[in-house]
Amino acid sequence: MCSYREQLLSDPEQPPITDILESVKQTRRGAAMLESKRIKTEIPGPKSKALMERRKAATPPGVMNALPIFASEAHGALLTDVDGNTFVDFTGGIGVLNVGHTDARLVEKVKEQVERLTHTCFAVIPYEPYIELAEKINALVPGDFEKRTMFVNSGAEAVENAVKIARYHTGRNGIMVFENAFHGRTLLGMTMTSKVNPYKKGFGPFATEVYRVPAPYPYRCPTRQDCSGGCQGDCFNFVERAFTGVVDPGSLAAIVVEPVSGEGGFLPFPDFYLERLREVCDEHGIVLVVDEVQTGFGRTGKMFAIEHSGVIPDIVTTAKSMAGGLPLGAVTGRADIMDTVHPGGLGTTYGGNPLALAAGLAVLETFEEDDLLVKANEVGERVMGAMRDLQEKHPDFIGDVRGSGPMAAMELVQDAASKTPDKERTGRIVEAALQEGLLLLTAGQYGNVIRVLMPLNITGDQLDEGLSIMARAVDSVA
Ligand SMILES: Cc1ncc(COP(=O)(O)O)c(C=O)c1O
Repeated sequence: MCSYREQLLSDPEQPPITDILESVKQTRRGAAMLESKRIKTEIPGPKSKALMERRKAATPPGVMNALPIFASEAHGALLTDVDGNTFVDFTGGIGVLNVGHTDARLVEKVKEQVERLTHTCFAVIPYEPYIELAEKINALVPGDFEKRTMFVNSGAEAVENAVKIARYHTGRNGIMVFENAFHGRTLLGMTMTSKVNPYKKGFGPFATEVYRVPAPYPYRCPTRQDCSGGCQGDCFNFVERAFTGVVDPGSLAAIVVEPVSGEGGFLPFPDFYLERLREVCDEHGIVLVVDEVQTGFGRTGKMFAIEHSGVIPDIVTTAKSMAGGLPLGAVTGRADIMDTVHPGGLGTTYGGNPLALAAGLAVLETFEEDDLLVKANEVGERVMGAMRDLQEKHPDFIGDVRGSGPMAAMELVQDAASKTPDKERTGRIVEAALQEGLLLLTAGQYGNVIRVLMPLNITGDQLDEGLSIMARAVDSVA
């Protein structure tokens, strides 16, 4: 462990932000910021501002930044920017850092690997870590049958390959997906993705043979029933209706579903819905692909979110937190499906790079050694409790609190009666939190959802700090 890291994680000179901010009361944001010992400059600070100018001149705006600070280093759940300000990180690089930033064991394994072997291309000369991680993922993914895993570099590539495999196996073309879905930004990935702006606007023509149906969303039920007390289940009719009015189920290669829509606003699919999907897939010979890119590796309190329902998928796609910050994605599926594709039909130059695999192996060790699933559930209870308290306090502003375990979110509206999405005030909460030392992210079709994706091993103090800043930000904006 480097001394900076030790200092950051345990320095008594870095008191909980909550203590400091308590004394600040309702002063201007700037004043609060300057009194925090973790926040040392205005936000963004001068170095971040200067880098942002260079960034504008050197890189296109299409690749945007949700937050205006430049990262310098990060450890555990704390991130320090180039101006020396340290933030509690509730974004986790969009769900990539379930084991925290730069976990010492992960760093060590990657260092060992980089000194020994960095690349051969698995398709040219194989190496053991690929096999070792595949064996471990095969054992973890639900399903009491033989499985195979192939590695790629990202979530979108995992989804693309899952579709290729399902098409090859079934000899069919059609793919069914859902509203609020996010499956990536490649041509097929963005076609399967639901949200138009920014992901699809202006990028057509899209891939063919992708059919979308409304998804369960109790707060904004697509059947227009009052599902606020829990999903009534009638929304499954959209799938059945699509089989009559939109696409022959016999022409569908796969149904692809996120067990909890991530970018779509943290919307869990009810168990019964996933069970019915399994049934229709079995009935019509469709491959059930579960996209666990954001939900996987403990994000919902189980290793994979689909485990909550007991449904056994045919193929699971993973990425993000699998390798704690190194680029790695995977497709894991039933051997009889995965083995159909001819040799050479799948693969990529870098997919399953030895460094990313070393990180993936370290992530799994960390889960075991640190009991991360137990921690995930503890974090989930506290986060969900804090969000529910806020909703009780601001019932007209916080329309919905939902999620699964620590994958928790609140949906913000102009008023409870109209449920008009309040994207503007959602952005102001993120900004207010940033000024006080907390990194937050939005989500949702309307950009009016605050979601949290903090490392699962965040300390109790850091979690308290973050939740308390979040509450202050909500209070100040509400
Ligand atoms: C469920 C899901 N699938 C696929 C992707 C695409 O992953 P990547 O950005 O690594 O291509 C994401 C990314 O957020 C995701 O959340």
